[in-house]
Amino acid sequence: MVWKHIKTLLREGYGIEAVPSRGYRLTSIPDILRHSDIVQGLGTTIVGIDIRLFSEVASTNTLAMEMAAQGAPDGAVVIAETQTGGKGRLGRTWISPAGNLYMSVILRPEVPASTAPLITLMGAVAVTHAIRRLCGLKAEIKWPNDILISGRKVCGLLTEMSAEQDRIRHIVLGIGVDVNMDLGALPGEVQACATTLAAASGTRIKRTELLRTILRELDQWYQVFTGGTADILKEWERLNMTVGNRVTVRGSVETLEGQATGIDDLGRLLILTDNGILHAVSAGDVSVQKK
Ligand code: BTN
Repeated sequence: MVWKHIKTLLREGYGIEAVPSRGYRLTSIPDILRHSDIVQGLGTTIVGIDIRLFSEVASTNTLAMEMAAQGAPDGAVVIAETQTGGKGRLGRTWISPAGNLYMSVILRPEVPASTAPLITLMGAVAVTHAIRRLCGLKAEIKWPNDILISGRKVCGLLTEMSAEQDRIRHIVLGIGVDVNMDLGALPGEVQACATTLAAASGTRIKRTELLRTILRELDQWYQVFTGGTADILKEWERLNMTVGNRVTVRGSVETLEGQATGIDDLGRLLILTDNGILHAVSAGDVSVQKK
């Protein structure tokens, strides 16, 4: 009977030694996410009211979009240990080995669809706070929603939306945080501009604690967002490292170079080019030349 439980624990990655004529000794705990550990005393009111945890999915965003279309509630969360088809911004792939966090939050805010980009900024604010709080690292936001530590990317966010006219049916806020993985899992060109929380802090990070901190921050900032977007924009500006610097923005149509002077009410990056024209950019890849 006991052996049956021991076998289950061994399969889950627990280290267990038999101690002759005494029983068993627990020697190590695996780094796996467990539903009960995540929800125990979580205390959120919207984000995380329904949590679905998977060992492997194609993409938590794709699954969350399907679940949302079938009526999953505001604040439901999909989490996976690994993804086989993780999606990044601008049609890129998000490499998703074990040891990181991959999650998507289903949101149903009653705001115009034009406000949707601000949900991603809200997500970046929440995750930046969580990283700062839990890891003591100076995480900063690069427009629109990359999170960097010492100039290297540690987290990306990808928002997908279903809308009719200007009404949002649902939004999926996808978050990928590079936590404990071996940076060697990334291709060379990505490795050079990426980091993990473990590499940046010099210590392995407790993923469950990080996940719980992110859920709590998201819960708070989502409520700020639904009360009005001004405070989100203000907080994003405080945590960002793009505004005030010279930037190059590669968009699908053109590349702009100039001074990033701020973001507008819709979260677009304002760039003053050298010919004195102010541009509002809604998508693109930004390189920042820090002062
Ligand atoms: C980016 O390009 O910076 C955005 C990356 C977003 C990755 C996350 S991982 C969880 C969720 N599921 C996905 O397929 N993508 C997002």
